[in-house]
Amino acid sequence: MRGLFITIEGGEGAGKSTQATLLADRLREAGHHVCETREPGGTPAGDRIRGLLLDPAARVSPLAELLLYEASRAQLVGEVIAPALERGETVVCDRFFDSTTAYQAYGRGLDPETVRELNLTATSGLVPDATVLLVHDLDAGLLRATQGGADRIELESRDFHSLVAEGFRTVAVAEPDRVVTVAGTGAPEEVARRVWDALASLPPLRARLGKPRTA
Ligand SMILES: Nc1ncnc2c1ncn2[C@@H]1O[C@H](COP(=O)(O)OP(=O)(O)O)[C@@H](O)[C@H]1O
Ligand SMILES: [Mg+2]
Repeated sequence: MRGLFITIEGGEGAGKSTQATLLADRLREAGHHVCETREPGGTPAGDRIRGLLLDPAARVSPLAELLLYEASRAQLVGEVIAPALERGETVVCDRFFDSTTAYQAYGRGLDPETVRELNLTATSGLVPDATVLLVHDLDAGLLRATQGGADRIELESRDFHSLVAEGFRTVAVAEPDRVVTVAGTGAPEEVARRVWDALASLPPLRARLGKPRTA
């Protein structure tokens, strides 16, 4: 059977990377073979694109930025995600195409239809089985995220990040069967329990989450 594909989304400092790790740990405890990856990056080529995208000194136009994210994604899906799913592994990905909808369509104001089509092309139509949207206070998240210095995206205005948050909320409302919204407040372990319960609330996942894979 094809593996489960779970993505973690949210704004800067929402706790995505922390929760991706904790979710992967919990899935392994439940017997899943887990493939952990992230966007942008996750492949040698993608990691070089990530370096460019996050470099505060890089001048990148909104359209070029969109295409770079999609290039990184196309490489990641083809090289890592699709093969892992075919092997029956559970894939946990820190950000995926909903981030492009939120950042490039809502944040940058690029044409939503163009973003949708490029998301579809880059993924060859692969859609996550479930997406966790971590919601955290915008200013607290930005503060958390930029403690060790800010990257090119984190350096964007508060208004930009507020539009991004609106984009994520809109995606969650439009696709309640795929996207679960989880409050990112509280201790990481507390948030992790909320993430697990939210995933288990999705009927297609409930049956598969706790079941150890024997293959
Ligand atoms: N629930 C939490 N409570 C307190 N600090 C947290 C929590 N989750 C994450 N952090 C810390 O906040 C910072 C950003 O978390 P991270 O998981 O990297 O967020 P993201 O990947 O969404 O940007 C990190 O320093 C992390 O250790
Ligand atoms: Mg992160």
